Amino acid sequence: MVLVRHTVARPEARWLTSHRLCLAEFALERKRGKEDSGEVSEARETPKTIRQRKGREPIAALTAYDYPMARLLDDAGVPLLLVGDSLGMVILGYPDTTHVTLDEMAHHVRAVARAKPRGLVAADLPIKTYETATQAVESAKRLVDAGAEAVKAEGGRPILPQIEAILAAGIPVLGHLGMLPQHVLDEGGYRIKGRDEAQRKALLADARALRQAGAFCIVLELVTPAVAGEITRLVDIPTVGIGSGDECDGQILVTTDLLGTSPDFIPKHIQPDELLRDRMVGIIRAWRETLPETSATHE
Ligand code: KIV
Repeated sequence: MVLVRHTVARPEARWLTSHRLCLAEFALERKRGKEDSGEVSEARETPKTIRQRKGREPIAALTAYDYPMARLLDDAGVPLLLVGDSLGMVILGYPDTTHVTLDEMAHHVRAVARAKPRGLVAADLPIKTYETATQAVESAKRLVDAGAEAVKAEGGRPILPQIEAILAAGIPVLGHLGMLPQHVLDEGGYRIKGRDEAQRKALLADARALRQAGAFCIVLELVTPAVAGEITRLVDIPTVGIGSGDECDGQILVTTDLLGTSPDFIPKHIQPDELLRDRMVGIIRAWRETLPETSATHE
């Protein structure tokens, strides 16, 4: 068990933080150790190895929703794979993430986990599955049973009891602050956070609280670059940004946005050199045009 460096003021809080973090990491390392007892030789990522990248090397994180994409991300050496509830839009065709269920998440987590990537597999707790501490632990366990090695929950201080309960159950937590897509209907859109002093202070306090609770990393979504940089310097766990500027410890993207395979949407924070979907349509059309006449007509 490794002790962690941190800046928690109260000694009892420091012990609690280390204890929760170590419990979660220890459980995962034991699980991964068992899986690795065969022929796998290359080191696999854990929350600890992700955390240790802070200040050393940038963290590349991408979403994966199925087996083939998890294999491709693994080949590309991606250390953190997120089975994001963005799958609601990019895979299932929902208008936003508020329709995604725990069953749907578990189904996709199982597909990703079958790839046995070296990258850490984190999964989103979908909306309405972590309303209480008890429900949060039950839901997180469902995702872990499906193959997730960490779970992500949206929010800071308002969901701290849930986060603490998940960590106390030995499950690592990836935090998520800034624009919270599960709140998109309440907020009436995807709005940048950290623009005024009240939002800035709230974000800093939430980041500090997540760190103290024992989260191993924090996603910062649509946070102003200045505030994202401030959070990154404030906490000793890594931040991975999405649409939050360059001052985070790493970046996280929805993989279909990066590759340009989404049929409908390319977010502002991505300028793909090439849209893979155009190539895919080209390949499909070219194949369609090669079909011999006879195979299409039946006398
Ligand atoms: O669901 C998701 O893909 C996410 C990323 C956008 C961070 O939460």
